[in-house]
Amino acid sequence: MPNRKEVTVSELRLDAVSKSFGGLHAVSNIDLVAPQGSITGLIGPNGAGKTTIINLITGTLRISSGRVFLDDVELTTAEPDVIARRGVSRTFQNIRLLPEASVLDNVIIGFHRHERSSVVAGLLGLPSSLRETRALRQRGMEILKRFRIERFADAAAGSLAYGHQRRVEMARAVAAQPRILLLDEPVAGMNDVEADELGDLYEELAASGIGLLMIEHNVRFVTRMCTRIYAMASGKMIAAGPPGEVLKDPNVIAAYLGDRYAKG
Ligand SMILES: Nc1ncnc2c1ncn2[C@@H]1O[C@H](COP(=O)(O)OP(=O)(O)O)[C@@H](O)[C@H]1O
Ligand SMILES: [Mg+2]
Repeated sequence: MPNRKEVTVSELRLDAVSKSFGGLHAVSNIDLVAPQGSITGLIGPNGAGKTTIINLITGTLRISSGRVFLDDVELTTAEPDVIARRGVSRTFQNIRLLPEASVLDNVIIGFHRHERSSVVAGLLGLPSSLRETRALRQRGMEILKRFRIERFADAAAGSLAYGHQRRVEMARAVAAQPRILLLDEPVAGMNDVEADELGDLYEELAASGIGLLMIEHNVRFVTRMCTRIYAMASGKMIAAGPPGEVLKDPNVIAAYLGDRYAKG
């Protein structure tokens, strides 16, 4: 691979990534690094291009130009399932669970990156896979315990309160044993207590070696959680650094004020 950079820290890296939709430059020339074992923030007003960045990293959208690496492995043109198997998991801005399926089954689906056949067979109830199914259920329960939602294991995921559904979604993403976890507005609509409880879980995940890249509007939360944040506006990177610096940056303040005025 030409121009491969030497990597000392394990990390997700975007080099000059751009994405156009027809004439709209949704994302322009974005450089970004999310190291494993720490929490990186991505902020910016609505329409800044944040979700598009996640869709480009996961392969949901094709990159127009630029490159994406996980350590020294290039993911730029990889298919979404390959990117997932390499260790990139995500949650969605709008929660996407199987609402009728149990909480435990929703999490077990997250294992499929490693054990597709047995999970599918297990969910179909094939007798040959009963033992694996039991083992998977046990591992699923362990993850539910980690997220403190084991009491909901048999409940339909869609019947849970919003904050708990967020946890199920996180548990499913973690079941895939990610190296990098992409979180799109994970605490939107939560109060400070609920957000901080989830924040404790994010810190545990980071301490276990996972790299978190978190899109989030909640300034208090971002300041608490992130060692470094990136700020985007109109598809461009306008600031990067420690939260205390970035949130004081005049360009960042202007971008958010503009957004507020634009909304009236
Ligand atoms: N699939 C798409 N097709 C066309 N335009 C899109 C698509 N996805 C996003 N956009 C546009 O790209 C810009 C950035 O959107 P998005 O990444 O969702 O912003 P954010 O998550 O920061 O609010 C917006 O102008 C949005 O309308
Ligand atoms: Mg978004």
